[in-house]
Amino acid sequence: MYRLLYSVLLRRLPAETVHRLSFRGLRAIEATPGAMRLVRRLCGPRDDALRVRALGLDFPSPVGLAAGFDKDAEAYNALGAFGFGFVEIGTVTARPQPGNPRPRLFRLVRDRAIVNRMGFNNEGARAAADRLRGRRRVIVGVNIGKTKVVPEDEAAADYVQSTERLAALADYLVVNVSSPNTPGLRDLQAVEHLRPLLTQVREAARRATPRHVPLLVKIAPDLADPDVDAVADLALELGLDGVIATNTTISREGLESRTREVEAVGAGGLSGPPLKERSLEVLRRLRERVGDRLVLVSVGGVETADDVAERLEAGATLVQAYTGLIYGGPFWLRGINRALAARLRP
Ligand SMILES: Cc1cc2nc3c(=O)[nH]c(=O)nc-3n(C[C@H](O)[C@H](O)[C@H](O)COP(=O)(O)O)c2cc1C
Repeated sequence: MYRLLYSVLLRRLPAETVHRLSFRGLRAIEATPGAMRLVRRLCGPRDDALRVRALGLDFPSPVGLAAGFDKDAEAYNALGAFGFGFVEIGTVTARPQPGNPRPRLFRLVRDRAIVNRMGFNNEGARAAADRLRGRRRVIVGVNIGKTKVVPEDEAAADYVQSTERLAALADYLVVNVSSPNTPGLRDLQAVEHLRPLLTQVREAARRATPRHVPLLVKIAPDLADPDVDAVADLALELGLDGVIATNTTISREGLESRTREVEAVGAGGLSGPPLKERSLEVLRRLRERVGDRLVLVSVGGVETADDVAERLEAGATLVQAYTGLIYGGPFWLRGINRALAARLRP
């Protein structure tokens, strides 16, 4: 059904229009009496084999929605009802900002991939906080990033401001230093910048709430291996709770799509299957480095239950996906949860 709708209509519409239509649908489901219950009954993860205990939380499925889909915390409950074990909202910046000019979201259909240069379009930390105060029916992670106009030497203060507004409302907090679409952001992954940044965010989270808010850092797949190791060591040194690997890549290697099409799309972060191999490699490297001392959330190119199982076997505590949902449609995760439960059941 979704395949038909996709091939007849959705793939002809600009990708961002489809995104906006999806949110209308999700919000309509949240507003219609009985609809959420119905969706949850159809899609919600119920099998005990899927449960994961991590970060002090009980996840009903190890598969969550990666950051960037629900940037403004508009529909996390409906997304949870469709089967996600957790939803990461954001990236949220301290101040509202429009993001980059459109078009800024592109499909590379032959690769089942996406290129985006959204540039953290979002309504800011205050608006996200207001939405997170509503009734919650799913575990919600909050992913924060730097406001574009804030200079790099004031980045930490900007992250701290978001933390002050959002930490008490987050089931876990993610410091995103890995989006390729905010100039200079990824330089913050260098340990000399990352150490003071994470230390200040951690202190701000402690001041914001007496509850321990798990703190994770999200890294790029384009880091060289020694830099991945350095971030892992820093996460251990600072007593962080985990690492999310990976964000999108600026590489365009190994694509099936025509060079002309790829060049026409231009700059941005690439996601989906072309990212799979590097994402898995970074996961294995991190797990080897940190042993069982950190939660590792693996993301990048996950499309099937076999992909999820592979990540879990390679040391992921939790798994996230975004692009798979775009190509797979709203019932995609239901299928994954069912197939995964059958694999994991004793
Ligand atoms: C359109 C789009 C927007 C994204 N925005 C964000 C974002 O705001 N913050 C973030 O940390 N990651 C963002 N991501 C990256 C995803 O969270 C994820 O790390 C990446 O897409 C790899 O996973 P996938 O192959 O399953 O899509 C975005 C990805 C896409 C496709």
